[in-house]
Amino acid sequence: MSIFSLISGEPLSISRGLRAEPSGALAKNQTRPQKDDVARTAAEHTQIDPYVPGESRLPAGLKPIKLSSNETPLGPSPKAVDAFKETAGEIERYPDGGATRLRAAIAARYGLNAARIVCGAGSDELLGLLAHAYLGPGDEAIFTEHGFLLYRIIVLANGARPVVAPETDLRTDIAQILARVTERTKVVFLANPNNPTGTYAPIDEVRALREKLPAHVLLVLDAAYAEYVRRNDYEAGIELVATTPNTVMTRTFSKIHGLAGLRLGWAYCPEGVADALNRIRGPFNVSTPALAAGVAAIEDKVHEQASVAHNERWLPWLTTEIEKLGLKVTPSVANFLLMHFPKEPARNAHAADAFLKSRAIIVRRVDAYGLPGALRATIGSESDNRAVVAALSAFLNGAAA
Ligand SMILES: Cc1ncc(COP(=O)(O)O)c(C=O)c1O
Repeated sequence: MSIFSLISGEPLSISRGLRAEPSGALAKNQTRPQKDDVARTAAEHTQIDPYVPGESRLPAGLKPIKLSSNETPLGPSPKAVDAFKETAGEIERYPDGGATRLRAAIAARYGLNAARIVCGAGSDELLGLLAHAYLGPGDEAIFTEHGFLLYRIIVLANGARPVVAPETDLRTDIAQILARVTERTKVVFLANPNNPTGTYAPIDEVRALREKLPAHVLLVLDAAYAEYVRRNDYEAGIELVATTPNTVMTRTFSKIHGLAGLRLGWAYCPEGVADALNRIRGPFNVSTPALAAGVAAIEDKVHEQASVAHNERWLPWLTTEIEKLGLKVTPSVANFLLMHFPKEPARNAHAADAFLKSRAIIVRRVDAYGLPGALRATIGSESDNRAVVAALSAFLNGAAA
């Protein structure tokens, strides 16, 4: 049972979140928690594999080429950096808990209703809050076979059951998701484009999914890489959120805006969902420097366009060059690509990863995503991308590490 009902929007349980029992009093029918309960809860959480971030350090002080976390090689907008610095004189004060200026800037940029935007410390936080609001023991949440790893964590963390829908050719298969819907299904998480595959579901398919999902199921469209996509049949989901009462879209400032270190994301929600998130989030969940940098970043269309142009040039280049080396690359619409290695031990993904590291290049192992034969590489600067191709070529030609 979750805290919020999607249908009524009303809080269903007052045992968590802002409406907790005042002064720690226990409800009449509740027994006082025992010491063992705490230990048991901790033990239950050890069943959850923690999210392992992309590696960032190499031994022996080598300065790495870090292509493991889909960060932008262009960095943030200089205007965002200035705005960030300007907040140094006010950090003794709490931030604006309503993120008023940032929500207004996002609303102006995309033509949205600011009242339905909720900001968070990264889209990770917002995804976690959605799971917290709408999932509980006895509920199920569906995500795809190679979907973003966080979904499993936040579903399990709320005592719900993760349900995995197989993909077809590393793509979202709407029919497979729909085939797994039961009356217990409360949320479907869909990364579009997906990480780590880089593939996407066209908007017609997403619309069909929404139409066929029961009304009580919240569809969460995680569009962390939306800005990079250059396909006529792709949409991040703004219109679906605007026209349906049960679809949410999450976005991030960590990727194209280059603010991963500040932790900033936003969600566009139906009114009831925005209300639910605002009730349970921390009242000051986004810091003053992040709010200021976010406004400058979202307003700097020129910088964003430069990042898109960079990706448009180097994503196809890297794809083609890696394919020329004889590796299969999954066609990507995002700022990273997935490359597939042969099975033999000397040339497999793990050997390639070790070889690249020996050349100070850090990419992402994707075993945890069920893809042990592949590696994911972020599109880097021109010199980074050339270094990747040169190192892979050496590896495949049997050079010693
Ligand atoms: C698909 C997807 N969603 C969400 C996130 C989380 O981004 P953040 O919490 O930095 O906003 C990531 C980060 O890698 C991602 O790949």
